[in-house]
Amino acid sequence: MGELNYTLRDRYHRTIDYLRISVTDRCNLRCLYCMPERGPDARGRDDLLGFDQIERIVRTALDLGIKKIKITGGEPLLRKGLVQLVERLAALKRVADLSLTTNGVLLRHYARDLARAGLHRVNISLDTLDPSKYRFLTGCDALPQVLEGLDRAVDVGLTPVKINAVVVRGINDDEIEDLVRLTLDRPLHVRFIELMPLGNKEFWRPERFLPGDEVKRRCKSLGRLLPLEGTSNSPARPYRLAGAKGVIGFINPVSSPFCEDCNRLRLSCNGRLRPCLYSDVEVDLRKALFNGNRSQAGLADLIYLAAGLKPLGHQMEVKTEKSSRCAMWQLGG
Ligand code: 5AD
Ligand code: SF4
Repeated sequence: MGELNYTLRDRYHRTIDYLRISVTDRCNLRCLYCMPERGPDARGRDDLLGFDQIERIVRTALDLGIKKIKITGGEPLLRKGLVQLVERLAALKRVADLSLTTNGVLLRHYARDLARAGLHRVNISLDTLDPSKYRFLTGCDALPQVLEGLDRAVDVGLTPVKINAVVVRGINDDEIEDLVRLTLDRPLHVRFIELMPLGNKEFWRPERFLPGDEVKRRCKSLGRLLPLEGTSNSPARPYRLAGAKGVIGFINPVSSPFCEDCNRLRLSCNGRLRPCLYSDVEVDLRKALFNGNRSQAGLADLIYLAAGLKPLGHQMEVKTEKSSRCAMWQLGG
């Protein structure tokens, strides 16, 4: 298939051009909304996909029409040799957008090498700028490291650096304005994400949910919000605060699902392809990976199958009891 330009579509005619790849389900944080008290086994698992397998999947996915790749976790920087994986994927020269989502704790050590390896940009998960709240939310005293990682990422050009902040009413909603101020002097993107009823079910409560529209209203107290053109890269609705260098965005998966524009598939760290974050349906790619070595067609068929299984939408309601088996630490958002 080589250099031909294919378009992968699902049965609702959505173009599927974005693959998120989880490289580990381990994490060095324990965000309250995400991780159960006892997370995945710290020793790691023995069924992780190797880099050769990930590269094979990516090559096949690119042949089929995938154009954008995001490396996620758990915390992807915990995966040994991650820089080499980035190098291998960048060397394919066919990824239009190669990015990484990280909690930023280790980013200061890797930003330069990641940029050299060919990573285009990073997203950093950061919900608070208050050190003690950071510790409360994540179980770890790592705010200074994260802020240093952020600076390093900007310095080495992993831009635009996007900050993802999950807003939890009663916990960090008093920091919305402070987070917006990060965009005043630097071209950072700050995206506010609605708390979703997945991950740690003990934590989820309707009272903790703050709709994106209300977050937006609060942002307006700082000035005028100028709407910007959206990109196919992101479900965020982008705005610029008048006079600011950066961008703010609102990702509202609960109050206004963006399923009609969903363009993504998610690969778990042990080789399962998920058509939808909010459904337990998955396609096991390992069958094609381990059935001898001449099964490239098999892999393509399974990726097609997963795209074909994408549901029309999800009903992620504030009061819902339904919750996906898989949390963010398994699939990286
Ligand atoms: N609701 C919204 N966002 C979540 N994340 C993890 N769990 C949830 C949840 N329940 C976010 C993290 C990170 C990304 C990987 O997913 O904060 O930004
Ligand atoms: Fe927090 Fe992400 Fe780790 Fe979950 S996977 S605990 S959201 S840093």
